[in-house]
Amino acid sequence: MASVETVRARLGAVGQGHVLRFWDELDAAARGTLLEQISRLDLEGLPGLIGHYVQGKAEPGERGEVAPAPYYGLDGTCCGRAWDRRAAATRGEAMIRAGKVAAFVVAGGQGSRLGFEGPKGCFPAGAVTGKPLFQIFADNLLGARDRYGVHVPWYIMTSPLNHGATEEFFRAHAFFGLEPGSVRFFMQGVMPSLEMRSGRLLLAGKGEVATNPDGHGGCVRALHESGALTEMKRRGVEQVSYFQVDNPHVRVLDPVFLGLHAGAADSSGEMSSKMVERAGPDEKVGVFCRVGGKLGVVEYSDMPVSLAGARREDGRLAYNAGSIAIHVMSVEFLGRLATDPAFSLEFHRAEKKVPFVDVESGRQVAPEKNNAVKLERFVFDALGLCRESIVVETDRVEEFAPIKNATGVDSVESSKALQTERAARWLRAAGVDVPTRPDGTADCVLEISARTATCADELRGASLPRKLERGERVAL
Ligand code: UD1
Repeated sequence: MASVETVRARLGAVGQGHVLRFWDELDAAARGTLLEQISRLDLEGLPGLIGHYVQGKAEPGERGEVAPAPYYGLDGTCCGRAWDRRAAATRGEAMIRAGKVAAFVVAGGQGSRLGFEGPKGCFPAGAVTGKPLFQIFADNLLGARDRYGVHVPWYIMTSPLNHGATEEFFRAHAFFGLEPGSVRFFMQGVMPSLEMRSGRLLLAGKGEVATNPDGHGGCVRALHESGALTEMKRRGVEQVSYFQVDNPHVRVLDPVFLGLHAGAADSSGEMSSKMVERAGPDEKVGVFCRVGGKLGVVEYSDMPVSLAGARREDGRLAYNAGSIAIHVMSVEFLGRLATDPAFSLEFHRAEKKVPFVDVESGRQVAPEKNNAVKLERFVFDALGLCRESIVVETDRVEEFAPIKNATGVDSVESSKALQTERAARWLRAAGVDVPTRPDGTADCVLEISARTATCADELRGASLPRKLERGERVAL
């Protein structure tokens, strides 16, 4: 490791000498940890970032005219032309069977809105069973093993905030029945939190720089640096099925989506996305748009009000393609994103309250107002770097039941209600008598594991009750 003199000189050269202000008070172990932490930071890149994002307050700019994104609709058409769902499913199933697909969840976030201690994937999400999110996803892979006869590898991105706890959780639950060798954890990187007024690095402790995970876009670099991409290539994996940790309804391996991504004439097979029709102008989801002729996601917070609420003649939202943050990305494209500077993802800035140690007094400060700029990369910015990228519509109830908040919209209650609604839909389609309330919702609590079925069709032939009772709680 570099000597403290070398590190001091490097810090001094970029105006960050204060980071070693408490060096004399640290014991040998703390000194080692601090030097190691600093050695992982891109110090020489800091002045550029500070000028751009702290002093300049830069945000990724508009890249031209904004228009609604076309998509492969649930009605079986795209831009007025019919598309073949069956052919896409056949192609996608063949890809899964041939071992060409890996599952990939980004689980490095802090989950602060939910107020849950610990990795969000450990949150008890199952409407009846209380199964943790990670187990719900594992059930998808166990189901794929039963259906397609393959151990689909699963890559799990954590962050320094939750890596150890995530691995421990899987060990404690015997990997939920998966082959431990088919599950790989790797950590995303961090960015230093920068003081808003000065651009100086904040100290989280006397021997620690304050940092934040570098956003889900950090997965590109982390997949590369951890060796996960190399491992995928060795395994023959060509496509990565990407999803977020907060959505128990995700279809982790969707043959139709995979097949369209790899086979549609207007897809370059680099990165594709799933959308649902936005619930309304205020829904907090990113919106797929064409920006300057390229596909992209405009975050809800950046969407101009006039566009967010614009309506077509039939009354539907003009910009109706809401992102549910499900993508397929090719291993080749990820490799290019990670290694070719022309493909690097830019940062987004957010202002935050970050507790810190005051370098003058040495006292710990809990700020009352935002005091820091946090820099993150977003994976969907890679869409603009694709030659051609497609968006595929899915049904909201079928595939989007996110758990983001403790109560209200996108909460555990709303997710559980959606789990029941989807299960009731599938059971009714299979001929089961499901009790109904006057408002049409199911008068029971239901949960269907992805091992049993990942869509209504897969439930046909399963051994099912003929009738459910009011208030019954049923897990299948
Ligand atoms: C996200 C999307 C939004 C989309 C919505 C759908 C962003 C900025 N917005 O919103 O366009 O419509 O989901 O549900 O992503 N994560 C990491 N490392 C990080 C940060 C996040 O792994 O450094 C992971 C989280 O663990 C989570 C996912 O990324 O799985 C989403 O993060 P979050 O910040 O909660 O995004 P949302 O605001 O919910």
